[in-house]
Amino acid sequence: MTLAEMAKALKDKALSSLATVADALSLDGFFSSYLSKKGEINSLMSKMKNVPPEEKAVFGAAVNEARNEVAHAFEEKKRALEEKALEEKLKRQAIDITLPGTSFEVGATNPYRLIVDEITDIFLNMGFEVVEGNEVETDKFNFELLNVPKDHPSRDMQDTLYFDAEHLLRTQTSGSQAHRMLEAKEKGPIRMLSPGKVYRRDEDDATHSHQFGQIEGLVVDKNISIANLRATLLLFAKKMFGEKRQIRMRSSYFPFTEPSVEVDVSCFKCEGKGCSTCKGTGWIEILGAGMVNPHVLEDCGYDPNEYSGFAFGVGIERVAMLRYGIDDIRRIYTNDIRFLKDFKSK
Ligand code: DAH
Repeated sequence: MTLAEMAKALKDKALSSLATVADALSLDGFFSSYLSKKGEINSLMSKMKNVPPEEKAVFGAAVNEARNEVAHAFEEKKRALEEKALEEKLKRQAIDITLPGTSFEVGATNPYRLIVDEITDIFLNMGFEVVEGNEVETDKFNFELLNVPKDHPSRDMQDTLYFDAEHLLRTQTSGSQAHRMLEAKEKGPIRMLSPGKVYRRDEDDATHSHQFGQIEGLVVDKNISIANLRATLLLFAKKMFGEKRQIRMRSSYFPFTEPSVEVDVSCFKCEGKGCSTCKGTGWIEILGAGMVNPHVLEDCGYDPNEYSGFAFGVGIERVAMLRYGIDDIRRIYTNDIRFLKDFKSK
């Protein structure tokens, strides 16, 4: 075999070996066997020094041709393997778009919040401001400034949790009346609404909870009369329970109002004929109210000879239960998705 024939044979051997290469690892092996510095093609080339001068050109050309062809075939094989690898990777990572996706549950506003928003809206439209009170309150603001001195028997109706002798979880939102009046320092009229949580030592049942929500209302100005109270609450009842609603006031007792009233709204279920919602009376009690007691005005910095006012307190859950026909107050707190779903459209 001539040297040129040897070059051709090496080329054929390399090409047929390359044909069997099927992965990156054996391709590396192929490169070092044939094309690297110490590979077979280079070692054949190193025989050049022993070749007689007249054959050098033919031999050199044959080896170079072998190298070029093998190198070219090597590059092609490399590209083909890379493409194959990419295709396999894409196949592995393919997403089955026919599988069902993760669904997102859209929540619903709790009826408690719906009622707070609705009531505040009604009163904001009448020019009231919304103020936030303190859930941890002092004895002074929760009781004393509201005409309930220490040891007054009416405290028994509102027993609660005390932190120490002076600090407690508020039993009513009425304390924000005193805060607001003292802040105003007898300047100008007050029209305030104050929603929030209150706490009482109550046994929990279908209509009672140791924690519940109230909205306090207070108006203080010159020449405020019980007619203003009635007109304001009638408007509220109509907006809240329907245009046809009437209200009635029954006399009652609260230490911080004089006179005090319980306010009933005509039944919106039976239009006053008598049903289970109004217990056959045609009327539903919705809130307590009254004219601000002169002692309270005075203790909170207003001269009762010049100023008068009215106040009211609404139970948020009570309104929500009436409004949406909720049978148990505890449903409002347990966040059962099946219950809350009903309020999605509200
Ligand atoms: N604070 C009273 C309660 O918790 C509710 C109330 C009644 C508030 C009459 C008032 C009011 O402002 O005038 O039972």
